Amino acid sequence: MKIIRTAQELKKIRAENEGKTVGFVPTMGGLHAGHRSLMERNRAENDIAIASVYLNPTQFNDKKDLETYPANFDDDVKLLESVGIDYLFAPTYDVMYPDGYTYKLTETDFSHVLCGATRPGHFDGVLTVVMKLLNIVRPTRAYFGEKDFQQLQLLKGMVSAFFMDVEIVPCPIVREENGLAISSRNRKLSADGIRIAPRLHEILAGSGTIEEKKKSLSEAGFTVDYLEERRGRLFVAAFLEGVRLIDNIPL
Ligand code: PAJ
Repeated sequence: MKIIRTAQELKKIRAENEGKTVGFVPTMGGLHAGHRSLMERNRAENDIAIASVYLNPTQFNDKKDLETYPANFDDDVKLLESVGIDYLFAPTYDVMYPDGYTYKLTETDFSHVLCGATRPGHFDGVLTVVMKLLNIVRPTRAYFGEKDFQQLQLLKGMVSAFFMDVEIVPCPIVREENGLAISSRNRKLSADGIRIAPRLHEILAGSGTIEEKKKSLSEAGFTVDYLEERRGRLFVAAFLEGVRLIDNIPL
C-alpha cells in the first residue's frame, strides 16, 4: 500500500488510472471491524481501492472529544494492508484546508436535527471535508456506514444537490455479538462502561414507548442526548462515562 500525503500526488495517481473503477472509504482513523467491512467491500468491488485517514478538526465542536479521539496510525496501516487497499491518503490540515476553512458547505434542514442539534457546525465540517476528499479522489464509488445514518443521508443529499459523479454506497452497521455498534469511541469506556454499553442497542430495539426507553436508558446509567423517530428510523445518542454513543434501527 502506498501512503500519499498531498492532493497533487493523489490527483496524479487518479489521472493515471482513468477508465478504471475507483473505490474510496474516508475515515478518521482508529480503525476497527466496522471500518474493515467498508474496506473489504471497496476492495472487492473496484479495480483500485483507496482509503483516507484524516482526523478532521472542523467537525469537532468539542475540543476534548478531538484531543482524546483514539488514533493509532501504525495499526490503521496494518489493517488497511491486510485488506489489500492500494492507496492510503493521509493528509495534514494544511493540505486539506489551504483556505483555512474560510469556505464551507452548509445544509440548512436535516443537519440541524438529531446530532446537529447539540453539535453546532458538526455537519458543516463533515460535508466540507467529504466534498474536498471526493474532489481529490474522484472515486466511482464511496462507502459510508449506516452507523452514522444522518451523515450518510446528508452526504447522499450533497452528491445529488451538487450533481457529483459518485455513487454513495450505504453499508450495514457492524455490531459486537452483544449488539453494541462498533465505534472508535467504545475504546474510551472503562470495564464497567463496556459492560453497560450494549444496553443502548438492547433498549433501542426492545419494546416500549420512546418515553419508556428514555427512562430505561437513564436507569441503566446513560445521559440521553436524543431518542427520536425520523424518516422511518429510531435514532439515539447518549453519553456513558462522558463518551457519546450513537445508534439507529429501522422501524
Ligand atoms: P469515522 O467515524 O472514522 O467512520 C468512517 C466510516 O466508517 C463512516 O462511513 C462510518 O459510518 C463507518 N463506520 C464506523 N463504524 C461503523 C460500524 N460499526 N459499522 C458500519 N460502519 C461503520 O464518519 C467519519 O469517520 C467521518 O465523519 C468522515 C466521513 C470520515 C469525515 O471526516
